[in-house]
Amino acid sequence: MAKVKTTFFCQNCDSQYAKWQGQCNACKEWNTIVEEVIQNPEKSDWKLPTSAVKKAAVPLRIKDIDVSNEARMDTCDGEFNRVLGGGIVPGSLILLGGEPGIGKSTLLLQISLKLPYKTLYVSGEESQKQIKMRAERINPTNNNCYILTETKTQNIFKQIEALEPDIVIIDSIQTLHSDYIESSSGSISQIKECTAELIKFAKETATPVLLIGHITKDGNIAGPKILEHMVDTVLQFEGDRNHVFRILRAHKNRFGSTNELGIYEMQGSGLREVSNPSEILISKKDEELSGNAIAATLEGMRPLMIEVQALVSTAVYGTPQRSATGFNAKRLNMLLAVLEKRAGFRLGAKDVFLNITGGINVDDPAIDLAVVAAILSSNEDVALQKDICFAAEVGLSGEIRPVQRVEQRILEAEKLGFSTIFVSKYNKISLKKTTIKVQLISKIEDLVTFLL
Ligand code: TYD
Ligand code: MG
Repeated sequence: MAKVKTTFFCQNCDSQYAKWQGQCNACKEWNTIVEEVIQNPEKSDWKLPTSAVKKAAVPLRIKDIDVSNEARMDTCDGEFNRVLGGGIVPGSLILLGGEPGIGKSTLLLQISLKLPYKTLYVSGEESQKQIKMRAERINPTNNNCYILTETKTQNIFKQIEALEPDIVIIDSIQTLHSDYIESSSGSISQIKECTAELIKFAKETATPVLLIGHITKDGNIAGPKILEHMVDTVLQFEGDRNHVFRILRAHKNRFGSTNELGIYEMQGSGLREVSNPSEILISKKDEELSGNAIAATLEGMRPLMIEVQALVSTAVYGTPQRSATGFNAKRLNMLLAVLEKRAGFRLGAKDVFLNITGGINVDDPAIDLAVVAAILSSNEDVALQKDICFAAEVGLSGEIRPVQRVEQRILEAEKLGFSTIFVSKYNKISLKKTTIKVQLISKIEDLVTFLL
């Protein structure tokens, strides 16, 4: 009998060793090396279903390659389409990662229930009844959605061969198991092997496969890093579980940009697409309250109006507290120092709290000016006018710095009925006719004179 081949892998970085050792030479982690069976000759004669194997590939000149029939599959979900760059590319492998309970299964089940194609949803985590109960909350429209609870890839391919679905969804890659490999589900070699089988299937039959992936406690997708290299697209579903908003981002996309962002709202009946995020993220109030300012930010190609709330109060304890939710705390300290030094506000003995509404995390530097305005407004206890907004970065010397794509921000603010937007004097603006007043400022002192 032929020998069963085994080898040792580091669970952390996927380095391979001939024998066991306590520490991995590559990533220096301890106790991460485990033995895994990589080949069992008795079972190695497994092949893809014959219907899945098409003719062998031949080299083609690049200009002869026909892409006209590579039409993308519309997912009937505007946000998902946007993040993918216009829909699912046939034959592509999409990996969706995210924290437990964030809504990965809900999102993909909802998409498979909306798709106008024959879909196969394979779950290794929930029973058919559980999925049916979830589907009832979502209100399905696709009668061609099949549910399979199976973890063995060979059995999954058998079912695929019989059903011939247009799209396959796997929940999750960590539960799959291939007979070809001996080690247990979720181990590095199993994940690698199952993904490789799925890629082979996807590329040869032009059927797209959507995979759900678990993440580790540091937020990376569990399993070997190579998993992310193997797939065409890596999506991340994120958000604060206590807030209703969920954000879908592409970390890697072979067929589109990674700048786009999809926004969903978790409701009792599944995830709702938020196609007009600006209107939702700004709380509509009748009264003007001090400490609120609105920033015109950009997420990917999409302008997003975000409300910044600040609370400045006299420190109760010796050391003043500074805390920021959704905004970098170091950046907040820097802006406070600039206000103190350049505009003469004595904030050193004050507690400062900052909050970005909606549980959204903002990296766009253009939010600086709105943060400063909110702090000033709370400090002086003077409410800002409801219909003004801000889009500029603040430098260390108190200068108001230009931001990218300012025109798009101005147009979004105009569309939402703002009367004035504050931007940097150094921004080049070539917009002709706008009903919104574009207020150019160059120093933080200018802002103080305008607002107070
Ligand atoms: P789930 O999709 O199972 O998350 P994951 O697959 O990422 O682990 O979890 C969804 C969460 O959302 C769960 O806590 C219940 C909640 N939920 C709703 O609020 N509304 C709904 O319609 C559904 C289906 C789930
Ligand atoms: Mg799940």
